[in-house]
Amino acid sequence: MFEKLIINAIIRFRDASSETQVSETQVLRLYVSKKTIMKINRKFSIILLLSVPVSIVAATNANKATDQPQYVNLKILPKNISSKDLQKIMIGDFEDGLGVGCNFCHAEGKEVGELDFASDAKPEKQIAREMMRMTLGINKKYLKIKHPMIGSEGMVVTCTTCHNGVPFPDGH
Ligand code: HEC
Ligand code: HEC
Repeated sequence: MFEKLIINAIIRFRDASSETQVSETQVLRLYVSKKTIMKINRKFSIILLLSVPVSIVAATNANKATDQPQYVNLKILPKNISSKDLQKIMIGDFEDGLGVGCNFCHAEGKEVGELDFASDAKPEKQIAREMMRMTLGINKKYLKIKHPMIGSEGMVVTCTTCHNGVPFPDGH
């Protein structure tokens, strides 16, 4: 019963946020929460449910006030990338492409069930950056794509080309 309410709230919240392109930290947190929803106890569920509409309002106001880049540790992706484009890459190219969860590359945060997306503590994240460089290089050098960008339609070789839904394409 409570799980259902929360999941619906998350879905509504994600829909709302994809239109306004705000509050992605909240969305990502909820996204992770959704995966561990069975572990969330009843008390926390109520707090989460009650906090959702407040978060939307707060985040919308915050976004109006500033157009600053919202991510703090991007070395390959454009620093001012929209939350919509970043989510497309993280979910479509990385999560689905490698058949892993966000926590394959992203380290645990301070709160239980929360990830610290900006942290570079997990070596997989750094390997993923090298793989991004390699993938961009293959497209540019061998496939003559002028301005290759991770996540863009113009890419010929993507993470999925080699990984095809598995983290270790060489079978190890
Ligand atoms: C295969 C590894 C990998 C997976 C899986 C992955 N990420 Fe990432 N993520 C990265 C890398 C690498 C960066 C940094 C990119 C750069 O330096 O330009 C990043 C950056 C981010 C950032 C920006 C953090 C900041 O402030 O700098 C967010 C937010 C994020 N990822 C969310 C997610 C979410 C949500 C998922 C799961 C749906 C996910 N990631 C899955 C590798 C991954
Ligand atoms: C040209 C083929 C190719 C492409 C394109 C490619 N990968 Fe890989 N990737 C590999 C191979 C092969 C391995 C295994 C290397 C090994 O086992 O040492 C690997 C390993 C990895 C690993 C390390 C897994 C581990 O824990 O050791 C990560 C993370 C990764 N790739 C992320 C990505 C991401 C993200 C992209 C897209 C930006 C990508 N790869 C694109 C071939 C590729």
